[in-house]
Amino acid sequence: MIRVAFYDAKEYDRPSFERFGRLHDMQFHFLETKLNEDTADLAKGCDVVCVFVNDTVNAAVIDKLYALGIRLIALRSAGYNNVDVRAAFGKIHVVHVPAYSPYAVAEHAMALLLTSVRRIHKAYNRTRDFNFALNGLVGFDLHGKTVGVIGTGKIGRIFIDICRGFGMHVIAYDRFPAGDSDIEYVSLNELFARSDIISLHCPLTEETRHLIGTEAIGKMKKGVVIVNTSRGGLIDAEALLQGIKARKVGAACLDVYEEEADIFFEDRSGHILNDDLLSRLISMPNVIVTSHQAFLTEEALSNIAETTVSNILSYFDNDGICDNELCYRCGNIERCKKERKERCF
Ligand code: NAI
Repeated sequence: MIRVAFYDAKEYDRPSFERFGRLHDMQFHFLETKLNEDTADLAKGCDVVCVFVNDTVNAAVIDKLYALGIRLIALRSAGYNNVDVRAAFGKIHVVHVPAYSPYAVAEHAMALLLTSVRRIHKAYNRTRDFNFALNGLVGFDLHGKTVGVIGTGKIGRIFIDICRGFGMHVIAYDRFPAGDSDIEYVSLNELFARSDIISLHCPLTEETRHLIGTEAIGKMKKGVVIVNTSRGGLIDAEALLQGIKARKVGAACLDVYEEEADIFFEDRSGHILNDDLLSRLISMPNVIVTSHQAFLTEEALSNIAETTVSNILSYFDNDGICDNELCYRCGNIERCKKERKERCF
């Protein structure tokens, strides 16, 4: 029996993990709390720790888990910016779920974009109140507009296909452009200058933190629509707010927010929100916020559970080699997948 401490468990996580766990004699201990230095001890007696995007897996937490005998951290997410992988090297192996439904995220990005540019959120509220007036609901066609996609990996490429289906002109920037594609790659500056809509699909790294800040917004077209379904830290939220107040940014669609960790995923209605910046952004008529829900489809939840369980089994069954293990030395997981013939340590 493999025992897994499952942090930040939500109601919607349980059915799929219980289903796949039962098939493989794996027991999940669902903990509502997030993982951090104060809660790491709750993993005592377990073999594996399973975490999500807002759990804290820094060096101190890793040391605590290591002392408890934990040798595997299974991320049930693609992004791993919340894990200090270097601190984990030599102590705890880390696996993730590289793809569970890139369609879910790309489709959510388009859903947000359409909602925003066709004012669906406003119309929905109006008609519920039997207000059938159209004033203030004028949108614009996506057809013929230029969309700038930053990050052309799994999700970015699907989003590009969706945009092309709408008759949009697509330009893109990627630090590592795909060699085998017909994507029109441009520099970041050119993307900022030419795009009517900018959608972020790159990971959060030291290099990409605040990729969209005051300077970048200054280079953009007036009225630009910014879509972020990737990671909150890609955008300097204060700079975004100023861009909106200056009428430079036409609209923002945000599924993620830099300071979301203690806010998103919970029902905060009835509470006073302490985050003034988020409150101000939400109060803007041209900002739509969803709380990190882009991944949340039945298909994605099932795939996440299936891959996480399989990642855990690989660690225990298959000489410990798992294609989805993060690399602590080179940081290039894709290359490692091809080259790895043995464990990283
Ligand atoms: P991926 O790894 O397939 O693609 C990421 C792309 O970004 C790659 O082409 C890579 O070359 C590029 N990139 C790396 N550094 C860059 C840089 N400095 N500038 C520009 N591009 C850069 O990842 P995937 O699956 O497409 O996911 C993208 C992001 O979406 C993830 O990193 C994650 O943060 C986010 N995500 C959000 C979810 C949500 O529910 N809102 C769910 C899943 C992922």
